[in-house]
Amino acid sequence: MFPKTQQITSSLLKEKKIKLYLKRIDENCPYVSGNKIYKLKYNIDYILNKGYKKVLTFGGAYSNHILATAYIANKFNLSSTGIIRGNEVLPLNPTLKLAKKYGMNLIYFNRKNYKLLTQYQKLTLIPSEYKESYILPEGGTNKLAVRGTQEILDLLDNQDYICCSVGTGGTISGLINSSNQEQNILGFPAIKGISLLEENIIKWSDKSNWKLIKGYHFGGYSKFDNNLSDFIMEFYAKYSISLDMVYTGKMMYGIFDLINKDFFPKNSSILAIHTGGLQGNLGMNIKFGLDLPHNF
Ligand SMILES: Cc1ncc(COP(=O)(O)O)c(C=O)c1O
Repeated sequence: MFPKTQQITSSLLKEKKIKLYLKRIDENCPYVSGNKIYKLKYNIDYILNKGYKKVLTFGGAYSNHILATAYIANKFNLSSTGIIRGNEVLPLNPTLKLAKKYGMNLIYFNRKNYKLLTQYQKLTLIPSEYKESYILPEGGTNKLAVRGTQEILDLLDNQDYICCSVGTGGTISGLINSSNQEQNILGFPAIKGISLLEENIIKWSDKSNWKLIKGYHFGGYSKFDNNLSDFIMEFYAKYSISLDMVYTGKMMYGIFDLINKDFFPKNSSILAIHTGGLQGNLGMNIKFGLDLPHNF
């Protein structure tokens, strides 16, 4: 696994004397895309070593993690169950259709029970037949996931700033752990509230060279406006690189906005991590009548 790093060029970058690179870990697999393979890698090792036969996880109806878990569980002959937030909506959206195709058993929890289960750890809500499953948390973030995301950066990634999108904090924690002390790790939360996120990152990471950049969540998780969708379309037209609307689009939008506002000193270099998530664009297109680029 040695993903390519692409330089992004533009007149703005030239004018501001900034070098911007995009690490394309999104290209590893359309189903276990971007950060997902890193997050699942050591979890799968553990599951197989301990002899678990079943995996259970949680997520929203468009979750990249749900599809990634379904796909990888299928590859390793594990049975998988996804507890999905909200009621079943038919026909299934492309994410859930694919998760089902890869053998995931889908169980729908109303928002109240879903919150009790995921935020308050009320595991008694899990139906008894799934009790002996290996439980992967929402978004797939745990200690083993962070061990995996520490492998996203390699020796050549010596830019001054490393940027990533943030959902649960697992990916940025791994990046912090494998960064060097002189690098600045910037996280762009895809969600509104960040105090819990900061607590998680402090718990999982071992340095203080990081910062969460607020103000690019576009109203909250999976919320967007025309500025964001136009930006994603223009970015694709210019660079032939697809971004997703939930995570990487918001991060890239934020990076360009910060460059415009002279946040980054002249002559600095930035490495943005393309954490994938493009499968979600399929569902977004159907739900909102958009024409976002995706990788299917
Ligand atoms: C495409 C994509 N990018 C970024 C993230 C954020 O990662 P994390 O939850 O580890 O902060 C996620 C969620 O896992 C994701 O699916």
